[in-house]
Amino acid sequence: MTTRFVGNTIGSKKAIVIGATSGIGRKLAEVLAKNGYLVGITGRRSSLLSELEKTLPEVFIPESFDVTDMKNTVESLERLVQKTGGCDLLVLSSGTGDLNPTLEFDLEKDTIDVNVAGFTNIADWIFRYFKHQGHGHLVVLTSIGGLRGSPDAPAYNASKAYQINYLEGLQKKAALLHQDITITDIRPGLVDTAMAKGDGLFWVMPVEKAARQIYAVIKSKKRVAYVTRRWGMVALALRLLPRWMYNRI
Ligand SMILES: NC(=O)c1ccc[n+]([C@@H]2O[C@H](COP(=O)([O-])OP(=O)(O)OC[C@H]3O[C@@H](n4cnc5c(N)ncnc54)[C@H](OP(=O)(O)O)[C@@H]3O)[C@@H](O)[C@H]2O)c1
Repeated sequence: MTTRFVGNTIGSKKAIVIGATSGIGRKLAEVLAKNGYLVGITGRRSSLLSELEKTLPEVFIPESFDVTDMKNTVESLERLVQKTGGCDLLVLSSGTGDLNPTLEFDLEKDTIDVNVAGFTNIADWIFRYFKHQGHGHLVVLTSIGGLRGSPDAPAYNASKAYQINYLEGLQKKAALLHQDITITDIRPGLVDTAMAKGDGLFWVMPVEKAARQIYAVIKSKKRVAYVTRRWGMVALALRLLPRWMYNRI
């Protein structure tokens, strides 16, 4: 299936936002709608999808599914691209993570199921889809947490490290194919959503600001970006910090 931009009228560009029921995904879906996209919206909480759909019924197209059900996810995405008439941009904002200082495996498994298995299933499906149509843009919300291990949420940080590494692999795969496929890895710091958990949080950014900056990154087709920009400095420090010093802070 080949989908082409046909100008700047509403719906000429087609996007899917996975995890549009709340937080960054929801706000980004609204920003994309304002910028002329037809937007497929997903998440498990169908009532929240309906609520968003009602705000712009001609623009938002809902499809509710759980990303941990691999077969149903692919079937749902195939149904959704039929309804939207294609996909030029897929934003993967579904994610989960819990503080787990006592290392309960069930908590870790939830994170692995969503952020590792669910992520891989969707990233692979959309990569094959873009390869077939000859163009497309995959944007994934990873995290600055993926840069180092965490004593309190080890599976979360490890799952984000997995995503970061996987996306680098997909970037290289796209480059080798010489196709117009862009892979963007957005690494937020702390954003004011249900996901920002723990004590002593700082530089927690409003979700509107995060979504605005993420949209600017999407337009620029950057490969990797920190949001907000000041978190880029934290990322640099985290990357440079020797292990012995990291273990002490
Ligand atoms: N907030 C932060 O400080 C922060 C920092 C760095 C990175 N991030 C990343 O940004 C992304 C978005 O998080 P957020 O802050 O916007 O949190 P959020 O408000 O909790 O949003 C998470 C989204 O993921 C969806 N989701 C979770 N589990 C799912 C499942 N099993 N099946 C389908 N959808 C599922 C949720 O939808 P349903 O519950 O309706 O299914 C929701 O729409 C995540 O990947 C997160 O790791 C966030």
